[in-house]
Parts: sequence; structure tokens; C-alpha cells
Amino acid sequence: PIPVITIDGPTASGKGTVAQRVAQHLGFHYLDSGALYRLTALSVMRRANGNPIPLDDEHALAKAAEHLHCHFSGAHIFLANEDVSNDIRAEAVGNLASKIAAIPTVRQALYGLQLSFRQHPGLVADGRDMGTVIFPHAGLKVFLTASVEARALRRYKQLIDKGFSANMEDLSKDLTERDARDSNRSSAPLKAAEGAYLLDTSAMTADQAVAQVLEWYAA
Ligand code: CDP
Repeated sequence: PIPVITIDGPTASGKGTVAQRVAQHLGFHYLDSGALYRLTALSVMRRANGNPIPLDDEHALAKAAEHLHCHFSGAHIFLANEDVSNDIRAEAVGNLASKIAAIPTVRQALYGLQLSFRQHPGLVADGRDMGTVIFPHAGLKVFLTASVEARALRRYKQLIDKGFSANMEDLSKDLTERDARDSNRSSAPLKAAEGAYLLDTSAMTADQAVAQVLEWYAA
């Protein structure tokens, strides 16, 4: 069987960085499942043309997820052949992604696409429900956490790096709201999978977190 490592955790916990580096180290594929929700959000926003699909039109939102024309190439993410690697990182896109991710039919629409990332020689999958729903039989499951302060600071640096403007106060508020929404939704709520190793990265560098995951994998 093709090995899978799942890395779940709250927003800006550092999962993306850690998962990518673990994948690189092992020569495994990498699934950024959050990017799929962000791509869905972006396609909904773009198609809207000032005429947004209302959040209660679940059918239309699930259709948008189902007909996502996206592909991944290295670190680049494309939507209908346009490189949107930066655009999907905007805070507004993340906030909409978190809202539509609460809709069960949207989650179902992205299920098969996520499974298709499991290919030789292995996969590192990062998200909210990788260990609980998508890959429940993964050989190693990790749940990354970090304090709200540490996460707000990481997100701040990330956004500034990408040329977005940001302020810590709004970000902390966003994070807290997103945590609540991701944890309290009825469909695939954010929680540690059974058997997951917990890793609090508040006072850790990315390298230290990567080393810990690799050590667990080797054990
Ligand atoms: O970590 P961050 O919140 O910045 O974003 P992300 O991992 O790119 O995911 C964006 C949104 O998609 C999250 O707020 C989640 O609500 C949702 N998501 C999800 O529901 N399930 C996943 N497996 C991954 C992301």
C-alpha cells in the first residue's frame, strides 16, 4: 500500500510548511487540501461578476467545487490555466473558503480529487480532516497546534511576504473566528484524529517540527 502521512491543524499552525518539507525530504507527493477549498472560493468569487452565489445556494457551491478546473505544478497552483498561487492566499479568499467548507456537499465534491493525490511513492496530506475523514488509515497522523499569538504572527509575516497588507489585531480576530467555525461545524469538524501525535509548535522552528515528524515516521 502507498504510505500516507496526514498533518491536520488549525489555521496558520504551520502545517503547510511542515507538510511540504516532510514531503520533500521523503520524496513524497504533497496535498494542500486547503488550497482546494480556497480554489473553490476563488472560482465562486470570480465567476460572481458582482453577482455572488449566495452562501445558502449549496447546490451551486457544490457544483463549483465539483467542476474545479485546477492543476498543481511544483509550488504553483492553477485555476483554469491561470497561476493563482498568490491570489488564493488572500485573507478574503481564506475566509470564504472556511465558510463554504462547512457545507457537506462541497466537501463531498472534493473527496475523490483528494484521494487521487495518493500516488507512489507516498503522500503527505495537510488540512483539517486528512486523518479523520479522507485518509483514516494513514500510517502516521499528526495534529499540529500553536497559540493564537504565534499563529497570528506567522500569518502576518506570510501575508506581508506575499505583498498583502495585514494587521495583527484583525488577524487574531479572523483566526479565532475561523477556529470556532472549523471546530464547531457538523461536517468534518477540526479535531485530532484517533491515534494522532500532537505537536505544539508555538516555540518551535519549522525545522524542529519537521525533524519531529520524520522521527515519528521512522519509528
Ligand atoms: O490554514 P488556513 O486557514 O490559512 O487555510 P487553509 O488550510 O488553506 O484552508 C482554508 C479553509 O479551508 C480553512 O479555513 C478550512 O475551513 C477549510 N479546510 C477544510 O475544511 N478542510 C480541509 N481539509 C482543509 C481546509
